[in-house]
Amino acid sequence: MSYRNDEVVEKIKDTVDIVDFISSYLKLDKSGANYVGLCPFHSEKTPSFTVSENKKIFHCFGCGVGGDVLEFAMKKENLSFPEAINFLGDRYGIEVKKQSPEDIKRQEQRNKSYEINREAAKFFLNNLLENKSALKYLNDRGINNKVIRNFGLGYALDGWEYLHEFLIGKGYKSQELEELGLVGERSNGNGFYDKFRNRIIFPIIDTRSRVIGFGGRVLDDSMPKYLNSQETLVFNKGTHLYGLNNLAKSSDREKLILVEGYMDVISLYNNEIDFSVASLGTALTPSQVKLLKRYGEEIYICYDSDLAGIKATDKAISLFLDEDVTPKVIMLGEYKDPDDFFEKNEKEDFEQLIKNALHFIDYKIHINKEKYNLEDIEDKIKFTIDISKDLRLLKNPIEIDVYINKLSKELNISKEAIEKEVFNKDEKNYKKKQTRKKTKPNNHRNINYNMNTVLPKSDIRAEVELLRMMILDRKYYEVIDAQNIFKDFKNHTCKEILRIVEDIYFDEDYIEEERIRRIIANKDNIDFRVTELILDREINFESENIEKMLNDLIRTIRVNKLISERKQVRDMIKKLDESQESMDPNAFSELFKKLTSLNGKLENIRYEDRG
Ligand code: CTP
Ligand code: MN
Repeated sequence: MSYRNDEVVEKIKDTVDIVDFISSYLKLDKSGANYVGLCPFHSEKTPSFTVSENKKIFHCFGCGVGGDVLEFAMKKENLSFPEAINFLGDRYGIEVKKQSPEDIKRQEQRNKSYEINREAAKFFLNNLLENKSALKYLNDRGINNKVIRNFGLGYALDGWEYLHEFLIGKGYKSQELEELGLVGERSNGNGFYDKFRNRIIFPIIDTRSRVIGFGGRVLDDSMPKYLNSQETLVFNKGTHLYGLNNLAKSSDREKLILVEGYMDVISLYNNEIDFSVASLGTALTPSQVKLLKRYGEEIYICYDSDLAGIKATDKAISLFLDEDVTPKVIMLGEYKDPDDFFEKNEKEDFEQLIKNALHFIDYKIHINKEKYNLEDIEDKIKFTIDISKDLRLLKNPIEIDVYINKLSKELNISKEAIEKEVFNKDEKNYKKKQTRKKTKPNNHRNINYNMNTVLPKSDIRAEVELLRMMILDRKYYEVIDAQNIFKDFKNHTCKEILRIVEDIYFDEDYIEEERIRRIIANKDNIDFRVTELILDREINFESENIEKMLNDLIRTIRVNKLISERKQVRDMIKKLDESQESMDPNAFSELFKKLTSLNGKLENIRYEDRG
């Protein structure tokens, strides 16, 4: 993942002292809060060129030029924007990834995607304002027009080509719309159809007010209830939160409530509680937790009160603890979700729920009292062990003490026994961590390498190996990322770990294996043998061989992907062949074309290999 352009820009603007930089071109004198000098962009005798150190901008009252430090560099050194970034980066020792032509192209593609999404959102909104039944649906749910505008809600018309036609009319290409998940190609290859039809539309807007994707809800009980945009160049579900854009505008960043659904965020907002967000139809991710942490001091979890919600709350709590956030849990009682709560209650009632929110340990005690029979001695032990794990995660020793006291009273177990459970384990973990620390990236480790024991398939093996490299050192991760093969990972456990790795590297440079272990422990269907292979074994390679080794692994993934695609196509041909009905001759020839192309690709890879 290359550093995103805008991140670098922010970094440069923050780091570079604009007065220092401009002073290297002309003499600046302090004048009040600002600095003044003779403008380098037009000729003058009295200084009208001003630099504001605080605002980090320059402006000439004589000729009107002005801007930030990057703009100054562009003008003065005659550089393009990316060149100016590199120039200042070099000069002030700020790490900037060079913008390759591909990076620039991607950036342009991104901008276009935002533009198309915005047009689509406007179209949906206009449709809504003109459609009585869609408006009625929202109004019946108590949503007023102000809220509709605030969230930019919309309506996708009940037809197959309204949006497609509209956007084509604006000059966009079907292909571009398809990549954004707005339209799909008809299976007969004959044109495109709208993906969102007869649905209330929830645009997903990032903190910079860009429309990155859409959710769409049916107006009745049909299925699926929600449809969401697929992941695209500009839409990564795991790194955004629904409603964060509204929050960014509001000044109160004290409390932040995490809810499950779009409608919950909207319903809360509708009732003047304007500090809630939802994850986007997927389980909460570490990146989202980091975002929440950035935007709120006190985090509240308010998931649905059903079993799925309770499970999700549990997972969310561990994710928060991983990020040193101690969340509270809002209990909805008899109500299914916040939206449901507001059918019978008002703002003040919800504020009371916030006040009554439970510290996560209290929440766990509460839940487990239902799950375990605490009269039963074995259950009591299980529960104590369970909850001790959580207590261990608390940072503040006083807090730990308070809860040990509390548990001891609630469970009628001696304080010492609980302390032993909490702290003894802690010591072990602590030691383990210390030894791990010492084994940070080191390419010449001597290693015992014994892959054959468990893993059968070469493709899983390649995925495991690549992950090991990526975890070992961020630079390998970047090399592999650039090969665009992550989407071809097949093994579920590898995919989950890959996701965690991506999340961590999103803003950190080093991965502690323990952390992956902790996060993965909360995921479903994990093959822990695979996890251990990825995390536990030491790595054996000489740095000279790395490049070849990486290439081999990447090629394995590519080849396997092609082979499995080819198998699919062959199966389809076979099926068509065997089916009794008279079939479309085009379908046959399409499949054969595909087969030939796949064979060609495989041939090429093998050829490269020889070459
Ligand atoms: N979701 C989804 N796809 C589905 C069902 C749910 O993406 N088929 C996501 C949506 O983001 C939704 C959230 O999960 O907002 C919560 O789902 P649910 O509780 O079923 O919906 P509500 O938000 O409560 O919506 P409503 O009140 O309109 O039924
Ligand atoms: Mn609901």
